[in-house]
Amino acid sequence: MTEIQDSQLSPSRQLPPSRRALLAGASVTCAAMLAGCTTQDVPPAGSGTAASASGSASAAAAVATTSQVPEGGGKIIDARRMVITQPQPGSFKAFSSICTHQGCFVNSVSNGTINCPCHGSKFSITDGAVVHGPATRPLPPIAISVEGTSIFPG
Ligand code: FES
Repeated sequence: MTEIQDSQLSPSRQLPPSRRALLAGASVTCAAMLAGCTTQDVPPAGSGTAASASGSASAAAAVATTSQVPEGGGKIIDARRMVITQPQPGSFKAFSSICTHQGCFVNSVSNGTINCPCHGSKFSITDGAVVHGPATRPLPPIAISVEGTSIFPG
């Protein structure tokens, strides 16, 4: 997107100072809201994760701990737009949390499926395959790795 600076506008098209201030304030508010969202589901410091134990950069990027993902279920990480599942004990999978039907966010994991609230699609916690439509395409997988009790992207 091309951004037009206020100084590039002709004097008659420049925004009055009060409107500029309002827009600048809105930008700060949006940035603060986004920053808040990105930390929503990240384990807090001192929660017993490798991140708090070692303080290394890679450990700080953990998206969840294994104990947060129930066996036979899953955890939705809204800030990462992903859902992590544990279909078999000790086996963790991750998928996009964006429904392939019309783009709603899935909102629950139960009875072996990842569920979309908008039109009822259900996806397998094992491979993201459609279990119940109207979606026709599986949830895309997301690569994760497990180190100790921490789950990392990639
Ligand atoms: S957007 Fe998920 S079922 Fe329609």
